Amino acid sequence: MSTTINAEAAVKERYASGAQTREAALCCPVQYDPQYLKVIPQEVIERDYGCGDPSQYLRPGETVLDLGSGTGKICFIASQVVGAQGKIIGVDMTDEMLDVARRNAPTVAERVGYANVEFRKGRIQDLGLDLERLDAALRERPITDAASFLKADELAAELRLKHPLVADQSVDVVVSNCVLNLVDSRSKGQLFEEIFRVLRVGGRAVISDIISDEPSPEHLQNDPELWSACISGALTEERFLQAFEKAGFYGVTILKRDVEPWQTVEGIEFRSVTVEAFKGKQGPCFERNQAVVYRGPFKEVLDDDGHRMERGRRYAVCDKTFNLYRKSPYREYFEFVEPREPIALADAKPFDCSRTALRHPKETKGQEYNATTEAASCCTDGGCC
Ligand SMILES: C[S@@+](CC[C@H](N)C(=O)[O-])C[C@H]1O[C@@H](n2cnc3c(N)ncnc32)[C@H](O)[C@@H]1O
Repeated sequence: MSTTINAEAAVKERYASGAQTREAALCCPVQYDPQYLKVIPQEVIERDYGCGDPSQYLRPGETVLDLGSGTGKICFIASQVVGAQGKIIGVDMTDEMLDVARRNAPTVAERVGYANVEFRKGRIQDLGLDLERLDAALRERPITDAASFLKADELAAELRLKHPLVADQSVDVVVSNCVLNLVDSRSKGQLFEEIFRVLRVGGRAVISDIISDEPSPEHLQNDPELWSACISGALTEERFLQAFEKAGFYGVTILKRDVEPWQTVEGIEFRSVTVEAFKGKQGPCFERNQAVVYRGPFKEVLDDDGHRMERGRRYAVCDKTFNLYRKSPYREYFEFVEPREPIALADAKPFDCSRTALRHPKETKGQEYNATTEAASCCTDGGCC
């Protein structure tokens, strides 16, 4: 269902004003780590319109993109978590928000001792288009008629190609705090595709947002106040997680889910969740005779590539899946079996990843393997035998 309101205009107007004066109705209580707040000026902290804290899942050295950075609080916290070797890019479409964030960036940089945060103007569903470059070009060649309107459209396409606001595969982690719900329903699919595009292979998204337990009916979706208040644009919990899957992510996980709703409207509960999703399951599959065993506790699991595995059985996997399972979020759920005779990647044959097959132990040990050994010693000092 598409809305009939101009959601983007309602959002821009609300947050232009929220950048200048704190709007209590937009604030959802969040506990940030106080050690990181010390260096952040008060006007940034008080105009906090987040609903979670994705910055706590970041690691030193990472390049991070914050979608809908507002007055910059998450960027300034993230700056300290990733340290001087990391980098933070905040993107927002509202000038008034960018003004507050940019005005405070030098103060934070001076207090932490390095400058690793920058703010860019763009729409998060169109991260290719640098709105400040477009503004500058349109000042020189303003739109006055249909022909100049079409020309501007061409110019935007050229800018996306030659000077993208955020380049393909340039970011380790995309974070966002209470913004995805604000994007117009028609652009939500494109938004998730853009998050996927800018992440490097092996990167991840960590998104805090408001979700609902039931779909919002049309009359709520067409209420600009409720939309801009992070309510009626929220996806249902189920559709929020599916949106990551649809864009090509794997390992989609709920890291935090508030038990209590932030708000309830006409019986529909709106609450904050933080979700993590990984990029990197795409690409060729090679056979290196590796196997994995799902450890449990469930009787069986199904991964994002359609591999269904029963607990305790040994499955053949391609090299890519083997390596994905060795990393977060899968690592702790699997045992890994390497072949006795390793196959170099350069010599590996293609592997058909569309089916799930068991792997006989002889395939990893080698058909000729026939060893008999002494029992391995299990004795330790003062031990059992
Ligand atoms: C609820 S506030 C959250 C701000 C910030 N993340 C925080 O934690 O305080 C939403 C912010 O997202 C920005 N925003 C909303 N929709 C956007 C879009 N489509 N593209 C870029 N920015 C957007 C608004 O301008 C506003 O600054």
